[in-house]
Amino acid sequence: PEPRRNQDRRQTNKGLAAHDDGDAPGGSRAFSNTPDTDPDLPGNREWGRAILARAEHSTIGAEVVERNTVSSASELDSIIAAALDGAATWHAFTGEERAAILDEMGRSLERHRADLIEAMASECGKTIDQGDPEVSEAIDFAHYYATLARELDTIDGAQFEPSRLTVVTPPWNFPVAIPAGSTLAALAAGSAVVIKPAKQARRSGAVMVQALWEALDAVDIPRRVLQYVQLEDRSLGKQLIAHPDVERVILTGGYETAELFRSFRHDLPLLAETSGKNAIIVTPSADLDLAARDVAQSAFGHAGQKCSAASLVILVGSVAHSKRFRNQLIDAVRSLHVGYPWDPRSQMGPVVEQPGEKLQRGLTQLGEGEHWVLEPRQLDDSGKLWSPGIRAGVRPGSEYHLVEYFGPILGVMTASSLEEAVALANQVDYGLTSGLHSLDPAEIGYWTKHIEAGNLYVNRGITGAIVRRQPFGGWKKSAVGAGAKAGGPNYLIGLGSWADAPVHD
Ligand code: SER
Repeated sequence: PEPRRNQDRRQTNKGLAAHDDGDAPGGSRAFSNTPDTDPDLPGNREWGRAILARAEHSTIGAEVVERNTVSSASELDSIIAAALDGAATWHAFTGEERAAILDEMGRSLERHRADLIEAMASECGKTIDQGDPEVSEAIDFAHYYATLARELDTIDGAQFEPSRLTVVTPPWNFPVAIPAGSTLAALAAGSAVVIKPAKQARRSGAVMVQALWEALDAVDIPRRVLQYVQLEDRSLGKQLIAHPDVERVILTGGYETAELFRSFRHDLPLLAETSGKNAIIVTPSADLDLAARDVAQSAFGHAGQKCSAASLVILVGSVAHSKRFRNQLIDAVRSLHVGYPWDPRSQMGPVVEQPGEKLQRGLTQLGEGEHWVLEPRQLDDSGKLWSPGIRAGVRPGSEYHLVEYFGPILGVMTASSLEEAVALANQVDYGLTSGLHSLDPAEIGYWTKHIEAGNLYVNRGITGAIVRRQPFGGWKKSAVGAGAKAGGPNYLIGLGSWADAPVHD
């Protein structure tokens, strides 16, 4: 059964409904964010439980993956040729026409909400409270980029020339929203797409693409404009990225992957959103209850496997010695129920695969001067289920301070002033998200001016950017190549170039 959608109650972090007010980034457009499934309604809970029960043994999407796994260079060449063929048809549409198709894609993603949640739970261990908003985000990308596609038609004096072919290489940690967002942006701009989802999330990506294909079928447009691939051999990855007909590559992943892609082709037109090592600063003026909750959620949602996650909390002045804050935080984290998504009690799921060397070190080894406030424990033989960990005493310049681990660990640092805390946060090479908990306008002003990160959040968690309202993207080593913020008004512009508009008499 379909969930009962309660349009009046939206998920808490979306705040008020985003009915267009013309002032928000993006200007005056008919767009509002998609509501999540309201878990307070008993019918919705039943619906969710049925999905999770299926997820434990699900192979959803496997058939699409199998059918589209490429094992030879010539096969990959024909896929690229088919996409280019699709590009010719796609290019002939106006922005208005593409927008109508994107809106249909948004509706198709909504129809597949349950399948998408099932795929993410079964393949990536995503709990439903993480997966459901992720589907809403994917739908938001469709309708929001549709509004931007319409605008491309109406810009005077210059003509937008989309790239013909865009390769999309999304990560496994947001296995639906990120592949959908990148693909929909490229399609909205007028480009054909070859998408190669991360292998850990290949079925989730396949279910997402299937939903978009069905929208193309509904309006009689050949599917070849959107090609899904998995590659059997690493050399095929290089062939895809370095292919001369590929005019843009959208990557979301590690900084090292961006460098690898660039080594394949030095002039690669890359739009990459890369790693993060993000901090929340808590000052003595903060609402400490709120801070403890937001730090716990930002650090341990999806077991900390978000480029936006908080992996550092920097306590300023008296907060560093506040027993109350310490206890609040420990209680909030210790009480998280860790388990697989098909256990309805689970609030934090597993890590996506057995920890590699770096994450293993982060979960088990302390640096000089550090101690465990909560020591992570391995909870079963799979190696994937870990209780959340908090380490205190993290020293400036230490490995934990500077390295991204991508797992359920939070490090505590202390600073004697806000200035010192900001300097510690800025000492990392990355600059993706950052948070401040403070009720003092002067502190908020100082932090906003000096903190080096793409997404700044005051008195809110630092994950879960909302399309249009919080365009998402970083600076420093969190972004490589050209790239406006995803879910923001300028994103499509990076997916093409401008020519002078023809002059009409
Ligand atoms: N957009 C995600 C977030 O804000 C990260 O990719 O958490």
